[in-house]
Amino acid sequence: MEIIQTPNYDVMSQRACDLLIETVQQSERPVLGLATGSTPEGLYKQLIEQYESGKVTFKQATTFNLDEYVGLTADDPNSYRYYMDNKLFHHIDLPDDRAFLPKGDASNPEQECRTYETMIQNAGQVDLQVLGLGLNGHIGFNEPGTPFDSRTHVVELDETTRQANARFFASIDDVPTRAITMGINTIMESKKIVLLVSGEKKADAVKQLVNGEVTEEFPASILQKHENVVLIGDEEALSKL
Ligand code: GLP
Repeated sequence: MEIIQTPNYDVMSQRACDLLIETVQQSERPVLGLATGSTPEGLYKQLIEQYESGKVTFKQATTFNLDEYVGLTADDPNSYRYYMDNKLFHHIDLPDDRAFLPKGDASNPEQECRTYETMIQNAGQVDLQVLGLGLNGHIGFNEPGTPFDSRTHVVELDETTRQANARFFASIDDVPTRAITMGINTIMESKKIVLLVSGEKKADAVKQLVNGEVTEEFPASILQKHENVVLIGDEEALSKL
């Protein structure tokens, strides 16, 4: 695992932006895996700036997001589809019909998982997958205990995860209890993974991810086994390494 320490959040976002643009420029039909949460917001702002200044085009790209809440529609401000539309997709030239997230309002979420997984497989390998890190070691919404060989599936969210994400909702009761997420195996099949971590609150999780035992009880630990992972973090997040 390559570890890049940056002086602050903005430089972390810039380094991730450089990697993503490099991937888009190197491939004729780049396939990107994208994440939500607070951490990649700076990356998306920088990508929009680079697009606006003519340095990159996403016309040939396809994107697959990691996850989506079950029960939220695309126009719900708390859905990840809404987040991606507003923080990235509507500001760049990525074709609408190649920007994929699991459908949170699918009438049959289990079927939606199978459909989504098949779409990822049909697109070929993900060239670059962006990941954030949950405080309990989750990646996407793969909570502790998720089998390493899992593919896209429906998860019951941990109470700690619901609480961590409650800041975006009116109250904790409004936070969905289930989500659809790419599985660990789906994520591990990406050619390259860039994991972004920022802030002191992630320091313990980063330590466990890098130095801890590889165990399903801490899903992100599996990244130790991937041959092409770049961990980019600011000083606070990497302070316990
Ligand atoms: C959320 C998302 C993850 C994200 C993580 C960290 O629950 N499902 O994909 O990486 O939590 O979020 P943040 O970047 O806001 O700390």
